[in-house]
Amino acid sequence: MEETIKSTLEAKGISIEFPGVKALSNVDFSMESGKIYALIGANGAGKSTLMKVLSGVNSHYQGKIFIDGREVEIHSPKAAKEAGIEIVYQEVDTALSPSLSVAENIMTNVLVNKMGKKQFIDWTYIRKAAREALDRLGVDIDVRKNVSELTLAEKQMILLASASRERCKFLVLDEPTAPLSNTETENLFKVVRYLAKEKGVGIVFISHRLAELFEICEYITIMRDGQVVTSMVITPELTIGQIVEYMLGRKLDETYKKTAVPIGDVLLEVDHLTEAEDRVKDINLTVRKGEIIGIAGLVGAGKTELCKTVFGAYKISGGGVRLNGRDITAKSPTEAVKRSLAFVPEERRKEGVIVADPVYANITLASLHKFLNKLKFVIKGKQYEAARRVIADLDIKTPSEHQQVAFLSGGNQQKVVVGKWLVSDSEIYILDEPTKGVDVGAKQDIFRLINDLARQGKGVIYASCEFSEIMAIADRAYVMYDGEIVKELNVSQTSEKELLYYSTGGN
Ligand SMILES: Nc1ncnc2c1ncn2[C@@H]1O[C@H](COP(=O)(O)OP(=O)(O)OP(=O)(O)O)[C@@H](O)[C@H]1O
Ligand SMILES: [Mg+2]
Repeated sequence: MEETIKSTLEAKGISIEFPGVKALSNVDFSMESGKIYALIGANGAGKSTLMKVLSGVNSHYQGKIFIDGREVEIHSPKAAKEAGIEIVYQEVDTALSPSLSVAENIMTNVLVNKMGKKQFIDWTYIRKAAREALDRLGVDIDVRKNVSELTLAEKQMILLASASRERCKFLVLDEPTAPLSNTETENLFKVVRYLAKEKGVGIVFISHRLAELFEICEYITIMRDGQVVTSMVITPELTIGQIVEYMLGRKLDETYKKTAVPIGDVLLEVDHLTEAEDRVKDINLTVRKGEIIGIAGLVGAGKTELCKTVFGAYKISGGGVRLNGRDITAKSPTEAVKRSLAFVPEERRKEGVIVADPVYANITLASLHKFLNKLKFVIKGKQYEAARRVIADLDIKTPSEHQQVAFLSGGNQQKVVVGKWLVSDSEIYILDEPTKGVDVGAKQDIFRLINDLARQGKGVIYASCEFSEIMAIADRAYVMYDGEIVKELNVSQTSEKELLYYSTGGN
C-alpha cells in the first residue's frame, strides 16, 4: 500500500427536510480511509439523501461534519471535492456528457479550470492523464471513444476513474451494481478493493443485492425512515435475514410463495419473430391465460430486445405476434398498448416515467381512457383514487399522489412505473427486470401483484437475469443466449443451476 495518512470522516446529528418530507433525522455516520462500508435500507430510507449531504448537493442540512477531527461545512459539490469526497450517483447515464470523449469526461475538472483561465488545452496531456487514470484501475477503454459508445459498466469505470483521480479520500458508490452482469460486478469489486486497500480510499457502497455486500464490505450501516438503526462490523455470524429485519423493522420470509393459478388457453403466440437488425432471431414462444413466463438470460443475452420487439419498439424483419389467434404484430409501442400489451421497461427513468410530472399523472398515463367522463374529460378525482391505491399496494414512499416523481427515491420511481402498468387493464404484461433497484420488501409486493394478474387470467412475461426470481415466480421459462431462445423449461422441474447452464451457452 502507498504511504497514506489515515483520514476520518464523521457526520453528526445530520437532519434534512424537503417540503412535506423529513428525509433524515439526527443521523450519525462515520468512516475511515481504506475501509469499505455498506449502506443499506429500504427504498426511500434516506441513503442517497445522506450521501448527497456529504457530496454537497443537499446543502441545507443541519448537523456537523468533521474531517480528521476538524469541522467542515459542505455547502457545495466544490466544497465536498475540496474535502476529498467524491460520489458516483445512482443514475450513471446522466452523470456523463455522452457526446464528449472518454478523456474529456475523465478530465472534466481540469478542462473546466483551464477554460476559466482561457488557457491553451494540451490534448496530449489530457489523453495521457485520462489513460493513466484508467490504467491505475486496470481498465482498458480507448480514451478517444465517445462516451455514448460505451456500455453501462464502462461508463461506471469512467466515473470511478474520474472520481479517484485526484485527492479523493472518501468515495461513495450509489447502487453501482444494479445494472451490471456478474462478471462486470466482479470487475467493479476488484477496482473497489484496489482503491481501498492500495490507494487508501474510504468507500461507501449502496446496494439492494444484500448477498454481495458480504463479498467486499467490512462495516454495515442500516437505515430506516431517515434514521440509522445500527452500524456495526460485518461478522460471519451476521445473516441476510437479520439485515432485512433491521431494515424493515419486521421479519420477512425470504422465499416468496406463489399461489397456484389455473392455466387456461393460449393467449399470446410469438411466431418466428426476428428483429430487423438481428438483435433477436426466430423467437417462438407462447403464453397461456394465467401463466407467468420467465425469460431467463444473462445481461446482454437479448431479453430487453425480445421484450421491445414484441412490444413494437423495434422494427421486425420477419414473423409476428398473435393474441387470442388474432394478428397483433405491433409497429409501434402505441399500437401495442392499443392491442392490450403492457410493458415495464428496464431503463425506467429514461423510458418509464415523466419525472417532472406528479405521481398520479404517471400512474394513470397508460390507462387514461379509464378516467374519462362521457364528454371525454379526465376525472381527476378518479385518477387520484387509482394512484392512491397503487401507492398503498406497492408501498410507494411519497408525501401524496401529487408529489413530482423527480423527488422520489430511485426505487420508488421504479415502483411508479410498475404501478402504472399494473392499473392498465391489459391482456399481456411484459416486465423487464422489474425488481431492479427495489428493496426486498417491495420485491415481494411486486411478486404478489404479478401473481394477482395471473389469477385474473392475464398472461405475464417476466424477463430477468436473477434466476432465483424466475424460479420463484414463473411457471415456465425460456432461456436466452445471444439473441435466441435456446431452451424451454418447466420451472417446477428445473433449477437455478440448469438455467445458468443454458444461459451460458451450454447445450
Ligand atoms: N429533493 C427532494 N425533494 C423532496 N423529497 C426528497 C428529495 N430528495 C429525497 N427526498 C425524499 O427523501 C426520502 C429519502 O430518499 P432517498 O433518495 O435518500 O432514499 P434511498 O434510501 O436512496 O432509496 P432508494 O433505495 O429507493 O434509492 C424519500 O422519501 C424521498 O422521496
Ligand atoms: Mg437511492
